[in-house]
Amino acid sequence: MSTMLEVTDLGHRYGDHTAIDRLSFTVAAGELVCIVGPSGCGKSTLLRTLSGLVASTTGHVALHGDEVRGVPDDLAVVFQDYSRSLFPWLTVQRNVEFPLKRKVSRAERRARAAEALEWVGLSGAGAKYPWQLSGGMQQRVAIARALAYRPALLLMDEPFASVDAQTRFELEDLLLRVRREHDTTILLVTHDIDESVYLGDRVLVLSKSPATIVANLKVDLPAERDQITTRESDTFVALRAETARLLHGGGTVRPRVQADPEGVAARFLAAERAEQAAQASKRHAAQN
Ligand SMILES: Nc1ncnc2c1ncn2[C@@H]1O[C@H](COP(=O)(O)OP(=O)(O)O)[C@@H](O)[C@H]1O
Ligand SMILES: [Mg+2]
Repeated sequence: MSTMLEVTDLGHRYGDHTAIDRLSFTVAAGELVCIVGPSGCGKSTLLRTLSGLVASTTGHVALHGDEVRGVPDDLAVVFQDYSRSLFPWLTVQRNVEFPLKRKVSRAERRARAAEALEWVGLSGAGAKYPWQLSGGMQQRVAIARALAYRPALLLMDEPFASVDAQTRFELEDLLLRVRREHDTTILLVTHDIDESVYLGDRVLVLSKSPATIVANLKVDLPAERDQITTRESDTFVALRAETARLLHGGGTVRPRVQADPEGVAARFLAAERAEQAAQASKRHAAQN
């Protein structure tokens, strides 16, 4: 497999605060790589530097062999906050067409947007406005918009963190299907350990701030994944425990399938869940 993205010694500082520190990794064409790290460790900063939105302080990024300077033309980003990334005054169809303006003809824009909306199961929604759709549907529009652009690499920043658990599972499976059917190369960051293992071909585990890579785990799960059977499988359970240990302990790797006598991973996962629930209720309170 050819290398799609090559990141070498990438670092970024905000003033004297180092957000990410000398990260090096690659993503092969067709791969789905998840990056998991605690809140505030520098995940969004990493994606911002990769997408050329902020300049890195050290290091290099190459996209299919070409050094990235500025915002690369064949890259698309899906953010967590769909309510701010979609234009409320444009229809769904027009939102999806928008990044293709000045890139392809009007007829081609229409065709690509209609096709991408079909991929995400929203064929009938083109004439609606984003605010007429549920949160999960709005995030599907954002995904369609990124896919219509046909990027060499799709970057996703906690794309399912703002939807409820059931919708999140549906969107995860939608992403896996679209990726399989259309051979998309994806780099997705998340703070959710389970999500990183469920979606990834590989999981890069980041340390606390400033982010460095503490592990590169290959996900030995079949390509076809299922929310129930995959999550129950021994390999999944072992991988998420290992990821939790790495996140918690910052680097001690233990053998994969092993009992967890201290229950460290279980306690950590419980704490993660509690934090997620607290954040969800805060969001809920903010929305009401
Ligand atoms: N524009 C900015 N100016 C200064 N500090 C920032 C800025 N954006 C993020 N940071 C800081 O950099 C660190 C990493 O932030 P971020 O990349 O958003 O982390 P994550 O996405 O993992 O939660 C945090 O300590 C955050 O406060
Ligand atoms: Mg972030």
